[in-house]
Amino acid sequence: MTRCYYKDKECIKTFLRYPGNKSKLLKQIIPYVPDDFGTYYEPFLGSGAMFLCIQPEKAVLGDINKDVINVWKQVKKVNGPTELYELCKKLTEELVNKKDRKEQLKWARKKTKQLNEMKVYNLQRASLYLFLNEIAFNHNLREQKHNQYYFHGLHKIGHLDYYLKHKHLNINISKCEIYCKDYKQIINECEENDFVYLDPPYIHNTNNPIIYNEKNEEKTLIYEIKEQIDLLTKKKVKVMMSMSDFPEIRNLFSEYKFIDIKVYRGYTNSFCNELLILNY
Ligand SMILES: C[S@@+](CC[C@H](N)C(=O)[O-])C[C@H]1O[C@@H](n2cnc3c(N)ncnc32)[C@H](O)[C@@H]1O
Repeated sequence: MTRCYYKDKECIKTFLRYPGNKSKLLKQIIPYVPDDFGTYYEPFLGSGAMFLCIQPEKAVLGDINKDVINVWKQVKKVNGPTELYELCKKLTEELVNKKDRKEQLKWARKKTKQLNEMKVYNLQRASLYLFLNEIAFNHNLREQKHNQYYFHGLHKIGHLDYYLKHKHLNINISKCEIYCKDYKQIINECEENDFVYLDPPYIHNTNNPIIYNEKNEEKTLIYEIKEQIDLLTKKKVKVMMSMSDFPEIRNLFSEYKFIDIKVYRGYTNSFCNELLILNY
């Protein structure tokens, strides 16, 4: 049984910059995490902001992104965090030795090409992915297609040593199970009183109706997730999901509990609403 002691103590911060990272929302989300649960499941892991904050005794983690999971698997190894940090430090030195920003950009694009050509998911690949994500504009190395990236621009480079957050890499996650799998395969194993945190890709929209991407993938996924949550609820598994706040979402999940989460949008200097959906 996991007792949630984290509510009073400082969280470990994420070491991977990632779109949809929940770090800034944790203060609003954490109070709704159940006090007691069996195993913690996070099948849309990304940078794992929630997982790192909760630090559960038993956890099963997953994501379909091979590079994300490769970084987590390297961090899980005994000397993984140190080795990863040393490789990132070498990359930092190479970068800062370039004579100007133009040369730095050229170097970063060359390194991205190198990353794209790597055939194996190992420590070297993890360090390159972690580092390029850190220095890419908005800390977001763009994915052109599956695990193939494009380096569009450099972020303002300040204290890279700080950016690499080696302190936060220094964690022990040796007991966690980590898989590169579809979320359904991960949550399939849940038992009564386990706790699942779902943070799937959001439905994007500016006005009212849900706008799907060309293949309607987001819509298909959210309907499928609804079925999965219904199944977990029958099994008495506790489920929390983060999602964008639209009438269609509120309709679809109407039998569950909603918590409003306020999110600051820097580019419009305003707040918008997101939802936490709970089955407990
Ligand atoms: C919104 S992000 C999660 C962000 C994360 N909570 C954080 O704090 O960084 C969604 C993640 O779901 C993953 N994903 C998308 N579809 C998936 C699927 N079918 N199964 C498992 N993971 C999936 C993506 O690769 C991405 O990492």
